[in-house]
Amino acid sequence: MKIFIDTADTAELEAAFATGLVDGVTTNPSLIAKSGRDFKEVTKEICSMTDGPVSAEVASTDYKIMVKEGRVLADLASNVVVKLPLTVDGLKACQDLTEDGINTNVTLCFTANQAWLAAKAGATYISPFIGRLDDLGMDGMELIGDIRALYDAHGYETEILAASIRSTAHVQDAAITGADVATIPPKVFNQLFGHPLTEKGLDAFVKDWASTGQSIL
Ligand code: E4P
Repeated sequence: MKIFIDTADTAELEAAFATGLVDGVTTNPSLIAKSGRDFKEVTKEICSMTDGPVSAEVASTDYKIMVKEGRVLADLASNVVVKLPLTVDGLKACQDLTEDGINTNVTLCFTANQAWLAAKAGATYISPFIGRLDDLGMDGMELIGDIRALYDAHGYETEILAASIRSTAHVQDAAITGADVATIPPKVFNQLFGHPLTEKGLDAFVKDWASTGQSIL
């Protein structure tokens, strides 16, 4: 499963990229607003930090304007993926941009039917929102499994990008359930590395090695 980082904060991205484990980035209008940065400027900067895909979301909800916005965003850098909402207009824009050879990420997906329509529209990625379903007492991970089954049954190549991830358990379960990508907030990404027993065990190994007085180098 590929790892994308879900932020528009370039300092957080720099730290995440330094691990060598990150494949791409997703942003959305809320994350851009949180960054306090100019949208095009920060998007270009993020795109220059990686060769991987960087999702940048259109602002309009109107089909024709979304297509125009999508083309402007795609011109910012070769690795921009245009993010579109899962609406009739968004899926029409997805078809036009796909015909132009532009990669797309259809976002705000909450049912397998919506994911099916996005695949038919040629979406490169579909973004089912796990956490927001869980917040309503529903099972976001069940949606990932349903989309996986539907796409596999019909041979759709749209990649399942598990979004709205709230915990390390979400990441693990998304991988096991068959998501192609998880887009992970920096805080959760950092939590993936740790375990108290890893730290405790390493402390003991370091201490015991020092007691030998030996050196490998
Ligand atoms: C990613 O593409 C989404 O915009 C993001 O994961 C949404 O997460 P949230 O539900 O925590 O806002």
